[in-house]
Amino acid sequence: MTVHFIGAGPGAADLITLRGRDLIAACPVCLYAGSLVPEALLSHCPDGARIVNTAPLSLDEIMDEIGAAHTAGHDVARLHSGDLSVWSAMGEQLRRLRAMGIPFDVTPGVPAFAAASALLAQELTLPGVAQSVVLTRTSGRATQMPEGETLDNFGATGATLAIHLSIHVADKVRDELVPHYGAECPVAIVWRASWPDEQVVRTTLGALPEAAAEGPGRTALILVGPAIGAEGFDESRLYAGDYDRRYRPVGTHPRFPEGTE
Ligand SMILES: C[S@@+](CC[C@H](N)C(=O)[O-])C[C@H]1O[C@@H](n2cnc3c(N)ncnc32)[C@H](O)[C@@H]1O
Repeated sequence: MTVHFIGAGPGAADLITLRGRDLIAACPVCLYAGSLVPEALLSHCPDGARIVNTAPLSLDEIMDEIGAAHTAGHDVARLHSGDLSVWSAMGEQLRRLRAMGIPFDVTPGVPAFAAASALLAQELTLPGVAQSVVLTRTSGRATQMPEGETLDNFGATGATLAIHLSIHVADKVRDELVPHYGAECPVAIVWRASWPDEQVVRTTLGALPEAAAEGPGRTALILVGPAIGAEGFDESRLYAGDYDRRYRPVGTHPRFPEGTE
């Protein structure tokens, strides 16, 4: 018996890996975080599967469900939205499973920031503009930010910021970031990327709070930084015709002559 943690993607039912889909289809038990996981994914569950929405459950109750499946020898598909590496609450479940001696594995999913970038058709790292993306959030009722992980500190880097769980404090986001990026810095707000009611607003940091008030609810990402919408960036050296590289030797004395490893 194994608990398969599966990244369920950002919303569209076909934005799940083939491995994730096949695991759902093979598991007689499916636990899904109903607040953001699309119900359409549950159609992959086998007939007669026990399907439980864990949104209203406590961690203890979730572990009781897994413990019961373990006793019965039933594999479990455990679905969380996006990818499991960020804000999935997978860590605490894995710690309990280790203590209980229950086997598990993890299948990645498409994170919200990647779905937002796709919807915008916007690369978040551009040569000479930004080469880092910070996935971050602001403090919420249930989660305080560790000291040092402030928008002020991240903003000082000038990187592209993908700010989660923060659309309701857009004024605070603006106030902390304007000193670093300026009021004219481009911003994109993406609500519910890949869902049927997905929505995008492109604005500036100075106008962020007004733009944030326009969208459908709280499932939104705020992307901030000079890379958002930039046109005046360098082309990458990797594909420049005169750039000598292992896969495309150039010149009379290439650094990696053909045939070398
Ligand atoms: C609890 S976090 C889950 C993140 C998820 N594990 C991931 O990989 O993206 C939920 C937050 O992610 C963002 N989010 C999740 N799905 C989204 C989507 N389809 N479009 C825009 N933002 C989304 C929102 O900021 C939302 O408040």
